[in-house]
Amino acid sequence: MTFALSHAAPGQDLTLDDRLVIQDLLSPSDDCRGDDGADVIAGLTRQPKALPPKYFYDHLGSHLFEQITTLPEYYLTRTETAILQAHSGDIADRVGPCDLMEVGSGSSTKTRYLLTALAQAGYPLSYQPVDVSGAMLKTTADQLLVEYPRLRIQGLVATYEAALAYPRPASGYPRLIAFIGSTLGNLDPEQCHALLDRITSAMEPGDYFLLGVDLVKDIDVLERAYNDSQGVTAAFNLNMLQHLNWRFGGNFDLGRFRHRAEFNPWASQIEIYLDSLESQRVHLEQLDLGVTFSRGEPLLSEISRKFDLASLTASLTAVGLPVQQVFMDDQDWFALLLCRRVAAP
Ligand code: TRP
Repeated sequence: MTFALSHAAPGQDLTLDDRLVIQDLLSPSDDCRGDDGADVIAGLTRQPKALPPKYFYDHLGSHLFEQITTLPEYYLTRTETAILQAHSGDIADRVGPCDLMEVGSGSSTKTRYLLTALAQAGYPLSYQPVDVSGAMLKTTADQLLVEYPRLRIQGLVATYEAALAYPRPASGYPRLIAFIGSTLGNLDPEQCHALLDRITSAMEPGDYFLLGVDLVKDIDVLERAYNDSQGVTAAFNLNMLQHLNWRFGGNFDLGRFRHRAEFNPWASQIEIYLDSLESQRVHLEQLDLGVTFSRGEPLLSEISRKFDLASLTASLTAVGLPVQQVFMDDQDWFALLLCRRVAAP
């Protein structure tokens, strides 16, 4: 299904609901982001142990993440926001009228700069936010409809994969797919390549891709961003265990694990761990799974890769997404890359 009421006559007074369609592509049993815990079993039974980062984002986790984005040490959100604030007009000028899709839209806070620039240029405003949290998507969409009276929203409560396989809007305009917040950095090189492939498949020649990535910089700055002084990142990380407790009947004792974040210079990534403070056994009843941790054993909960602009640009070109323009902050800490799809090389 494409946009509801795309047949509405120009200038017709639309009610808020006329401008909003939300499609839920997660299966009804998925009260979180969709699966039966097979990924938890796989992650906890391999060596070294690791868990998929999607388990950060239950209700409390999404809330803690919003808090992280405002921390003094967490420069990423602030820096990317400043870049968008300064350059959304340039992006709108270059892209022209378009259908904006955002993969991992969350609270859409930074996206508002793009929407405002497109609105100021007088272009039609069509926005397809994609998020695994239906509650976050709905709340955000309701606010956006009030803030942008001409905006039409087709929200997709979906995994990135499902959303990218979903038919594009039938407006005839180019598509602008935004993937910001350095979320690409949370994927390992193999997953990253697979996702870029899906993104290019969802694009036609002439479509645009806007990618926000964190860049390599001073190690202290990087490590501080994931070890904040107020302990919010530690609480966010530990909450993943609490999430597994309620979701899968687990008995993780949060007091027996400790948050740790370190830069790995060889892989050029921050690695976020939960270290077991003692030897212990944990049981996840609904998964029929018992797991043993030795004292000091690390559990990897997230990686956050820090990119080098030259090699990222080369990788994007190789997948058929040559970079048209790069926008950066004064310190060259964060980059926003505007790419344009060409026919596959
Ligand atoms: N995309 C964010 C990043 O890589 C995700 C993130 C921020 C995060 N802070 C975190 C993940 C702390 C785990 C722990 O920076």
